[in-house]
Amino acid sequence: MDFAGKTALITGGSRGIGKGIAQELARNGANIAVVSRSRESVDKTAAELEKNGVKARGYACDVSSFEEAERVGQEVIEQFGGLDFLVNNAGITNDKLILRMKPNDWNEVLATNLSGVYNFVKAVAPQFIRQRRGRIVNISSIIGQIGNAGQSNYAASKAGIVGFTKSLAREFASRGITVNAVAPGYITTGMTESLNENARQAMLQMIPLKRFGTSQDVANVVTFLLSDRADYITGQVINCDGGMVMC
Ligand SMILES: NC(=O)c1ccc[n+]([C@@H]2O[C@H](COP(=O)([O-])OP(=O)(O)OC[C@H]3O[C@@H](n4cnc5c(N)ncnc54)[C@H](OP(=O)(O)O)[C@@H]3O)[C@@H](O)[C@H]2O)c1
Repeated sequence: MDFAGKTALITGGSRGIGKGIAQELARNGANIAVVSRSRESVDKTAAELEKNGVKARGYACDVSSFEEAERVGQEVIEQFGGLDFLVNNAGITNDKLILRMKPNDWNEVLATNLSGVYNFVKAVAPQFIRQRRGRIVNISSIIGQIGNAGQSNYAASKAGIVGFTKSLAREFASRGITVNAVAPGYITTGMTESLNENARQAMLQMIPLKRFGTSQDVANVVTFLLSDRADYITGQVINCDGGMVMC
């Protein structure tokens, strides 16, 4: 892929899957705006990305804040002279069975995982519409499709992303903007490393390709969806899960 001269904004780009996406896009020549809450980690990741000879900059921002997202969206567009790709990847878990789940446990996950996507779409959509061009990829999860005991807040947020993605795809199609989602299965990152060995082995049994996914696996799908090769794809959810869910 040749993304030279393109700019991508990646939320949650400082580590895990988001960092893998940022690295793959930078290797393909894209300039990168890395967004996460920690100033230290966005700056560190941006410095690493610049080793690919691209421009990269860190933005400390909580995606759950509409105002912060607006500010960062505008700053990125000004400082990079435009924007081509938005990857909404920032996400958290706060797992609890519903009887123990407090309003705050619910609200925090929905505010980050779902409202965070809305906030950044709102921040950059005017630019995409003005330029009649843009690509949005939202990171959902197979848990949004099949559910998981103890993750009702997370599953609701990830299923919400699917409905949001499809609606935006319809709204934006006539403006030259595509909107798709990627639903990863079990990907080895900080988010999943707390699972104990028994749970990991049980999970492995459910994956036809018999291995856990990597950030690179997800980055490959996102890169394709952002490329010209995906010109005729919008409103889709692409699973990247080793065959764990087939629907
Ligand atoms: N790992 C998996 O197996 C898996 C499977 C399916 C879907 N996913 C989804 O993939 C995405 C990335 O997951 P991951 O495994 O890479 O997670 P991770 O390693 O925990 O990384 C999460 C990233 O999001 C950022 N972040 C979290 N809350 C934020 C907030 N409020 N505002 C801004 N940035 C925030 C984090 O940085 P800060 O802490 O500095 O803010 C970090 O950069 C998530 O949406 C997750 O739900 C993951």
